[in-house]
Amino acid sequence: MLNETLEEGRRLADAALERLLPPATDYPSIIHRAMRHSVFAGGKRLRPILAMEGARLIAGALPEGVEELGAALEMLHTYSLIHDDLPALDNDDLRRGQPTCHKAFGEAMAILAGDALQTRAYEVLARLRCPAERRVRIIEEIARSTGTIEGMIGGQVMDLEAEHTRADAATLEYIHRSKTAALITASAVSGGIYAGGTEAEIEKLRQFGRAVGVAFQIADDVLDVTQSSEQLGKTAGKDVASEKATYPALFGIEKSLRKADELVDSGCAALDSFGPRAEALKALAQFLVERKK
Ligand code: IPE
Ligand code: IPE
Ligand code: MG
Ligand code: MG
Ligand code: MG
Repeated sequence: MLNETLEEGRRLADAALERLLPPATDYPSIIHRAMRHSVFAGGKRLRPILAMEGARLIAGALPEGVEELGAALEMLHTYSLIHDDLPALDNDDLRRGQPTCHKAFGEAMAILAGDALQTRAYEVLARLRCPAERRVRIIEEIARSTGTIEGMIGGQVMDLEAEHTRADAATLEYIHRSKTAALITASAVSGGIYAGGTEAEIEKLRQFGRAVGVAFQIADDVLDVTQSSEQLGKTAGKDVASEKATYPALFGIEKSLRKADELVDSGCAALDSFGPRAEALKALAQFLVERKK
């Protein structure tokens, strides 16, 4: 079932991205080639899949057009990766097994490609095929999750500020909750809103996303120390080299993995009242911490 969820979600997300991103040949071609370079380099498409499965949990089937919500989330995620890799931030050369956007297109185009993916994402969100009230809630939810207050940008700020310091557990938790778990939470939650979930149902998806999102970033930190660049498709060992605030740096690998498992358990428990319908999301949560890339 998990493989089917991953396969179907990735196929739907990829097709929607292909449709919703400007063709590479559209003028000015260089920016569209840069955007597509990073979006189609690969990527697990986990945020679109979480949105689609969040929607399926509520509606019992995939609501029409939900893959467009997924595509918008993937555009925002890819923008965050392009900027994360810039020399001024993590200074990475490899992403999704390809040269990073700034390596292939230069720094100026990489900055603009990130910006362009962000604006295109909101254009897509504004046209989602759900009632306007839900659309506005989704846009607010996603904008907040990528902003400065407990959102992706706030987390990236503290990730950079914490380099070369010995960050305490509270700071580390803030970084992971904000830079990564916030958008993962917004993915599951916005899928639930798209499908017309009740407040109580949305709240459960939120609890799930928060716990699983932090577990996901802990797993990312562990993979950075345990896997090769080839396996990851991005530079391994980068966090130690940059003296990043990570879970393995503060707690060691064993304890980090234990924390990730505990978070997955508590995230899954938040969905217990949905019964067997929550199985796909629970299996996905397990995959998020057991993945090898
Ligand atoms: C990488 O995210 C960045 C983090 C937030 C840890 P993913 O591991 O989802 O990267 P892709 O999308 O599969 O390339
Ligand atoms: C990135 O965290 C989180 C983002 C918001 C992009 P990392 O810097 O650990 O992500 P990777 O390891 O480069 O993918
Ligand atoms: Mg980073
Ligand atoms: Mg990075
Ligand atoms: Mg990392």
